[in-house]
Amino acid sequence: MSETQYNTDVRNFTTFGISAKAACVAYYDSIDELERLLADQTLPRPLKHLGQGSNILFTDDYPGTILISRISRCDIGHASDGTVTVTASAGTVMDSLCLDMATRGIWGLENLSGIPGTVGASAVQNVGAYGVEAGDHIISVDAIETATGEHRTFTRDMMQFGYRHSIFKTDAMRDRYIITTVRFRLTTHPTPRLSYANLQTVVGDNPSPLDMRRAVISIRDSKLPDPATTGSAGSFFKNPVITREHFQKIEAMYPDAKVPHFIIGDDAVKVPAAWLIDKAGCKGMSQGGASLWPTQPLVIVNTHGNATGSDVLTLEHRIIDTVSTRFAITLHPEVEHI
Ligand code: EPU
Repeated sequence: MSETQYNTDVRNFTTFGISAKAACVAYYDSIDELERLLADQTLPRPLKHLGQGSNILFTDDYPGTILISRISRCDIGHASDGTVTVTASAGTVMDSLCLDMATRGIWGLENLSGIPGTVGASAVQNVGAYGVEAGDHIISVDAIETATGEHRTFTRDMMQFGYRHSIFKTDAMRDRYIITTVRFRLTTHPTPRLSYANLQTVVGDNPSPLDMRRAVISIRDSKLPDPATTGSAGSFFKNPVITREHFQKIEAMYPDAKVPHFIIGDDAVKVPAAWLIDKAGCKGMSQGGASLWPTQPLVIVNTHGNATGSDVLTLEHRIIDTVSTRFAITLHPEVEHI
């Protein structure tokens, strides 16, 4: 049965754990119920769908309705060539799916282990870690248009997957559709992705998907705050992409050090935002109840659970200004502000 609550604190609906009031929160347990909620003109507008709220910052109260799926279903289809097609409800917790697949010896999602959030959000955001992005394995997405209730399937070629990007993040499509189902193509053939830093050293030879999962989780645990105890939204900023000339200027500033970077095009170099934030001297910076995580300064945390949206916003702007002054690079938040 769908369930609605009015004038609700959203603190527990985001991993940041920051308080703000939503005029209404509506849960649904079936697609029929979702359709009824969409058609219900008495619900405060606008409508905003959340997964686990792992990439969200409420900077103010929300005048509309937050929609939350309680549907968690997963069908697994095996083909004789080892291909596995997994059809998962958008409300499924992504890490539960990663665990389930790794436990069954199915390859593809193991490097995404430990990322908070739902399957639907993983498609919107094209979540990525340790050399793998969700979009590498998504073959299609079913969605409902919020305004019309029309069902539509977006095939992979329509999804515009890029670095933390999909068609659902474009201005024209943002919040226009609610994802209901995501289809992944995975495999039973061993395909460990070991390119990231010290993964190979951690897992050794012939790892299983579960070995990969354990290694990824141990690396994450060593760098990132524990979501169970410290609120955050993971990486707060995207890693910026700059020109070669710009990168050479930065290299010239550090003649005795190797500046971490990835060449991603003829004239495009991605530089880790964590390194820029660190070298700009922002480590240890705090604002009210918000601060930078010591071992990964790309993450803004709700230090003792009492940060406000405006603490985070002020800290965000201080970091952007400091990095811009030092490196002439404008950092862009990856976290969605509501
Ligand atoms: N670094 C510093 N100082 C520090 C910490 C890190 O200079 O205090 C440098 C490191 O030396 C390293 C670089 O920053 O060269 C990059 O750090 P890391 O390997 O942790 O990766 P990242 O680029 O900061 C990205 C994703 C993460 C993902 C990791 C692993 C983005 C915005 N973030 O972080 O994703 O887990 O790679 O693949 O692309 C997320 O999106 O929420 C997230 C956690």
